Amino acid sequence: MKLQDAVIAITGAAQGLGSAIAESLAEQGAKIALIDVNQQALAAFTNKLKDKGVTAAYYVCNVANETDVEQCFTAIQNDFQQLDGLINNAGILRDGMLLKVKDGKVSKKLELSQWQQVIDVNLTGVFLCGREAAALMVSNQRPNCIINISSVSRAGNIGQSNYSAAKAGVVALTTTWAKELARYNIRSMAIAPGFIETEMTASMPPEAQAHMAKIIPLGKAGQAEHIALTVKQILENDYMTGRVIEVDGGLRV
Ligand SMILES: NC(=O)c1ccc[n+]([C@@H]2O[C@H](COP(=O)([O-])OP(=O)(O)OC[C@H]3O[C@@H](n4cnc5c(N)ncnc54)[C@H](O)[C@@H]3O)[C@@H](O)[C@H]2O)c1
Repeated sequence: MKLQDAVIAITGAAQGLGSAIAESLAEQGAKIALIDVNQQALAAFTNKLKDKGVTAAYYVCNVANETDVEQCFTAIQNDFQQLDGLINNAGILRDGMLLKVKDGKVSKKLELSQWQQVIDVNLTGVFLCGREAAALMVSNQRPNCIINISSVSRAGNIGQSNYSAAKAGVVALTTTWAKELARYNIRSMAIAPGFIETEMTASMPPEAQAHMAKIIPLGKAGQAEHIALTVKQILENDYMTGRVIEVDGGLRV
């Protein structure tokens, strides 16, 4: 895919990885549709891009809400008349152990609501946005690509039953879509970041952050730009589909 004048939608674009991806693709001449629930941060970041001469528009949308997502992609089609790429990046953490046990007795269980919130945003949100984007892309004569942001946690991680299950599900969607949608010239790829410095990881307890940095073979957290670079490479390489690219400093065992 040529990025010059390509229209790329990015979810969770108000901060963190999403905004770094938006900046990087805009530098290549792409037009950006920015999607997020955080209206204030989204509007501020979109205006920052526009001030630099980027063609960009923002859409306040909860990716877990079907009506929101349908309306959002209809609006993108109306505003840009095409969609070439989607970066399914919006995600949340609601970490907790399956069980907490004190003196041999179960003192706490992972709440269903804690499970469901993460599945709704991190998995159902990817499904809904991927479905609506693909529906617009099928009639596009140009190459198309959906990139889903998974995680190193997809292999299973302590305290992350909800997050790990959702991120493994995202990989399953990626391979399924690669097989189903290739006939419409739509590729589907996933990226599994390791520990990357963003507002999300800054919200972790300092001792957990220090521990992570210690166990990464490259010895430090990644930067949002590392993920943005891989997004760019995947979009530009039309022979990649159905695979997960790990960008984790060697963290995955
Ligand atoms: N930072 C890391 O180390 C890391 C590692 C692996 C995977 N990831 C994944 O990368 C993605 C981005 O992470 P980040 O670190 O930039 O997070 P972040 O918390 O900094 O940003 C996430 C963005 O998503 C938005 N968002 C949350 N719920 C939403 C919803 N329902 N609808 C629309 N937007 C919503 C937030 O408002 C925010 O702007 C997530 O999917 C995350 O799971 C991050």
